[in-house]
Amino acid sequence: MKKKICILGSTGSIGKSTLEIISKNRNDFDVILLNGNSNFRLLISQAKKFKPKYIYSSNFYLTEKIKYFCIKNKIIIINDLNLLKKIKFDITIAAISGIAGLLPTLNIIKFSKKILIANKESIICGWKFIYKELKKNNCSFVPIDSEHFSIFNLIENKNMNSIKNIYLTASGGPFFGKNINLKKVTPLQAIKHPNWKMGKKISIDSANLMNKILEVIEASLIFNLPISKFKIIIHPQSLIHAVVEFKNGLSSMLYHHNNMKIPIANSLYSNFYINKASSNNLSFKKNLSFHDADIKKIPSIKILKLTKILNDKGFILINSLNEILVEKFMENKILFTDIVHKLLSILDSKVVKNHLKNHQIRHIKDVFKTYNFSRSLVN
Ligand SMILES: NC(=O)c1ccc[n+]([C@@H]2O[C@H](COP(=O)([O-])OP(=O)(O)OC[C@H]3O[C@@H](n4cnc5c(N)ncnc54)[C@H](OP(=O)(O)O)[C@@H]3O)[C@@H](O)[C@H]2O)c1
Repeated sequence: MKKKICILGSTGSIGKSTLEIISKNRNDFDVILLNGNSNFRLLISQAKKFKPKYIYSSNFYLTEKIKYFCIKNKIIIINDLNLLKKIKFDITIAAISGIAGLLPTLNIIKFSKKILIANKESIICGWKFIYKELKKNNCSFVPIDSEHFSIFNLIENKNMNSIKNIYLTASGGPFFGKNINLKKVTPLQAIKHPNWKMGKKISIDSANLMNKILEVIEASLIFNLPISKFKIIIHPQSLIHAVVEFKNGLSSMLYHHNNMKIPIANSLYSNFYINKASSNNLSFKKNLSFHDADIKKIPSIKILKLTKILNDKGFILINSLNEILVEKFMENKILFTDIVHKLLSILDSKVVKNHLKNHQIRHIKDVFKTYNFSRSLVN
């Protein structure tokens, strides 16, 4: 039987990679729901090819652009996932970028047997709510961020107490080892990642290594381990994605070609995926190099030393402030280096310390209150 597939963020980099895998394996999958935000042309071309039953869009302007196409092709447009009825997707891929992915991810769980989450910001801001929904709805979960996918596989059937440290590798981004004035970096330069083809926000996060900070937080939540167990190492080839060091003296690492289709395809197929999609030639023969992540050269690492901030409220603040600052950089309103400098100085301010003391995250609404509070802190 074909697996029923739902893709949140189908017009993005992860969404497109997922659809490329599906298009080569049409007998295995039936795409039931697609979703985009602004790229209506791509959404229409995806819908022409995959003929979904539903398009989900919470963006009024996109809905206006696609409504005649949908009527003509008998596709139901919904602006709220709770309007779905009597449906269970075999697999959902949650790949909207930013905190905008949190509510759709939470809402789709009850309609899904299994969810592959790429959207790290939703995990960082709402893991306890996501986890509760997963349990309540008996929905299984696989992280497909490559580092987390690797850890997930490396620690399968292992006793969590046997783990000494977990190393997350970082490519170092486009400026690693280069003698350039980071203050003059433009958004166009920052999104040119040396190894991965990704969306703009994650590419900028990779350029100043904020992506790695977010990934450490994401991993600590998913695997329920303290932040102090996680270390960042620079590995410019991006072929090893994580290393788990066990207390018995053994370490395991996971190698795969730097193509997101590998974690996605292996998660879509559980254990049965045979690699037809990517040319995994003899790239393992390359020299692999690893370097310490130098806190003097990479100021974002200081965030992981702010122990008083490293809690659920602090995680939401770190993520939200970063999202807002990246937005400002993309609009050329602040310098590339300001993203981390401003983030560090706001996190260290009295107003943030007071906020952390006086607010609790009890309800999903509190997450968005914290996001709005973050916006008020960035000028
Ligand atoms: N790309 C990777 O290799 C990679 C690897 C690991 C993890 N991730 C994570 O996966 C997520 C997606 O990354 P990506 O690189 O695929 O991003 P992307 O290429 O920028 O795509 C983002 C997707 O989210 C939609 N979207 C953006 N803003 C939205 C909003 N306000 N409301 C609703 N939908 C919105 C976009 O729609 P439109 O394009 O139609 O506007 C698009 O479908 C991120 O959380 C990222 O950290 C990505």
